[in-house]
Amino acid sequence: MLVRAGGASYSVRVGSGLLGLVGPACREMFAGSQRAFVIADAGVPGAIVDGAAKSLADAGFGVGRTAIAPSEQAKSLETLGVLLGELLASGHERSDPVVAIGGGIAGDVAGFAAASYRRGCPVVQCPTTLLSMVDASVGGKTGVNLVHPGTGRLLKNMVGVFHQPSLVLADTDALASLPERVYRAGLGECVKHALLSAPFGDADLLAWTERNASAIARREPAIMPELIARNVGVKAAVVATDERETASSGGRALLNLGHTFAHAIETIGRLSPTGRPEDAPLMHGEAVALGLVAACEAGSQLGLTAPGLTDRVRTLLKTIGLPTGVAGLPDAASILEDMRADKKARGGKLRIVVPTTTGACATADAPPEAALIRGLSAIGLRS
Ligand SMILES: NC(=O)c1ccc[n+]([C@@H]2O[C@H](COP(=O)([O-])OP(=O)(O)OC[C@H]3O[C@@H](n4cnc5c(N)ncnc54)[C@H](O)[C@@H]3O)[C@@H](O)[C@H]2O)c1
Repeated sequence: MLVRAGGASYSVRVGSGLLGLVGPACREMFAGSQRAFVIADAGVPGAIVDGAAKSLADAGFGVGRTAIAPSEQAKSLETLGVLLGELLASGHERSDPVVAIGGGIAGDVAGFAAASYRRGCPVVQCPTTLLSMVDASVGGKTGVNLVHPGTGRLLKNMVGVFHQPSLVLADTDALASLPERVYRAGLGECVKHALLSAPFGDADLLAWTERNASAIARREPAIMPELIARNVGVKAAVVATDERETASSGGRALLNLGHTFAHAIETIGRLSPTGRPEDAPLMHGEAVALGLVAACEAGSQLGLTAPGLTDRVRTLLKTIGLPTGVAGLPDAASILEDMRADKKARGGKLRIVVPTTTGACATADAPPEAALIRGLSAIGLRS
């Protein structure tokens, strides 16, 4: 599949065995390159990374290699600095590819390192989580988190640049080793895509996801390529209309569906998707699932969300094993403050995205507090 963004285009390949073919794919694309540098997520099984590194070496690349911790704390300027030093020490040149292997954290940091090293070298994204396959690896957003020097709070993705990959290889074999919870968290973004897919060429995605929810929850290998390809298709179509999220309405901002709520709750370390303290904190995709329910309810309060849509979303999330409510939310005032501080707020005014009808969404600027509270109450806020 071809993704068009900002006058450039790149292909996203989805299928079995692709990581073992990264060498020939890079050789074809970077014919004159001597070196490739693999930045791998330390949690990806070694055999997967070894296989990709061998494929690159067999294709004639001198392979540099490093691993980064897949934690939001390590998604930092410090890690970026270490990576840039390692690229320099390895003799990496501007035309040499960085090969990112891992989840969204590794892809975002490695993409940022590639974007900034010598003012930009190519990056090949090899996503190994469902979330990074259907979302993070496509669209060119790269970056790291910042800690607010005053409050000490971790603010996600506050520094970064747009740097489209040269190629994306989504090897479905990598999903086999994915922990159950990480896999399910990726489905949060799939439900999000299904809720906004109609204007982007896939009006049937919500119904298809509902029909296949049990097979998807069981991670049936036969369904994975279609699940990933259709979700990449939606993400790619959104990005093609609005690469840098500058459209005044619609466009890439729609991908924030559920995220304004999610960002405000995912950094509250004690929240658990199951209620068991040992399962805290929420993963990003779990927070997105809660954010989708909150967005539907807020949309209902605004008179924008069609009757029945919220129940469909709740049922789908439950079938695929994602939370629709959470215990222990702080008081409304502190969540609303965090939502307003979200970097997607415009001119200090909050903007949320709400589902309207099947497969369609709209943005709501400066929504009344009552709508936000109704959304938060639906996922567990106590009055
Ligand atoms: N750039 C974008 O457009 C974009 C979009 C969405 C999310 N993101 C970012 O992505 C990050 C979340 O990504 P994620 O959900 O992939 O989580 P993650 O990167 O934290 O990975 C989750 C866990 O899965 C492990 N893992 C990865 N692949 C594995 C495999 N094949 N087998 C076994 N374990 C494996 C990792 O080591 C990690 O422990 C967040 O930082 C978010 O901000 C970026």
